[in-house]
Amino acid sequence: MSFGRMPIANGFLTPETFATEFFFELRVGHCEACSMVQLTDLVDPHMLFHGDYAYFSSISTRMTAHFRRYAEAVMTGSLGSDPLVVEIGSNDGILLGNFARAGMRHVGIEPSANVARAATDQGIRSVCRFFDEETASDVRRSDGPAAVILGANVICHIPNIHAVLRGVDILLEERGAFIFEEPYLADIIEKTSYDQVYDEHVFYFSLTSLAPLVARYGMEIVDASPQNVHGGSMRYVVARRGAREPSPAVAVLAEHERLIGLGEPATYSALRDRIHQSRDSLTALLQDLRSAGKRVTAYGATSKSTTVTNFCGIGPDLIEFVSDTTPGKQGKFTPGVHIPVVPYEYFARAHPDYAVLFAWNHAEEIFEKEAAFARAGGRFIRYVPRVEIVE
Ligand code: SAH
Ligand code: TYD
Repeated sequence: MSFGRMPIANGFLTPETFATEFFFELRVGHCEACSMVQLTDLVDPHMLFHGDYAYFSSISTRMTAHFRRYAEAVMTGSLGSDPLVVEIGSNDGILLGNFARAGMRHVGIEPSANVARAATDQGIRSVCRFFDEETASDVRRSDGPAAVILGANVICHIPNIHAVLRGVDILLEERGAFIFEEPYLADIIEKTSYDQVYDEHVFYFSLTSLAPLVARYGMEIVDASPQNVHGGSMRYVVARRGAREPSPAVAVLAEHERLIGLGEPATYSALRDRIHQSRDSLTALLQDLRSAGKRVTAYGATSKSTTVTNFCGIGPDLIEFVSDTTPGKQGKFTPGVHIPVVPYEYFARAHPDYAVLFAWNHAEEIFEKEAAFARAGGRFIRYVPRVEIVE
């Protein structure tokens, strides 16, 4: 399916750069042979991950707590003595910091220099480069093999998935584990959360597509556990074949994915229809509110919202501004449709009638924080899992 011409999802702009903005065709496909769901037109990773990367992981207190629990779960596993913990895509250290503070040997591989620096400044060892087999060999040479290689919301970002798996094969101890969690395809289908589709998300993983892939490298998935973050994620534990006893959860999930038809083309044509319906209801609602003279803003300048605004054709005529807590996004304009991004404090002062919840995956945290908005008569608009005004 094509979502049409799309700008860089995290490419917030100043007016001087509007004229030279980069666009590409955002298209996603399902491979009937290997069951992978993935982008078919890729953007060069150097254009996405660089010294001015907009996404800082530590923007959410809930995510900080989530990653602390992730680290605790890893630490209670059998790590052996003096283990090396490697994280791919460690960003500002939200996960790896837990191992650093526990005094464990660690290294983060993070190609976006600005976020890597935020980690280094806190004493979290980070190497500014892309993870692939060359990086893996260098780490193995300098630090020895890794007891665990971790990732979160990053493995699905790396177009050369084979280079990642070859790198894991080089770096991982014989009985080590490669653990990563990524947005889960079944949640995207169930919630029609098509906004997960953007340039950085090259793959939309499931057990059905990952199991045969890791098998090509002599590995298997030994555990899979759903995570209630980013709108529905799955954490996979991968080990060398025979090194660890697979959990019964793996077979249960495989059967579940078969039942919901993750390998069936009909699943994806039905999803495409629901995506078009979602687009039509959201634009109709926003147009009605504009006709009724309501003041509509949006909450959270997420990467995901770049897909929504550009696919639905929602610009500053329908949404006055987007508020966001990230300093680097404030004062800029959203990719493609150029809605102004304002500091969070502005939202609280503006008293809009409605706020489209672009950061819908953080709804719980935001609703808790925004009780005053609701008390003043303000209402959030959601579009996942369906378009509605939240009462
Ligand atoms: N793990 C963090 C950050 C996710 S954003 C979290 O879950 O919040 C994705 C991160 O992966 C970015 O910081 C990006 O710079 C990094 N990244 C992208 N390609 C990478 C690669 N090939 N190797 C390592 N990190 C990569
Ligand atoms: P997120 O949903 O994690 O990301 P993405 O779609 O980019 O992967 O991003 C959350 C964005 O929302 C981030 O720019 C910060 C912003 N935000 C707020 O403005 N207020 C909040 O309370 C929260 C939780 C996030």
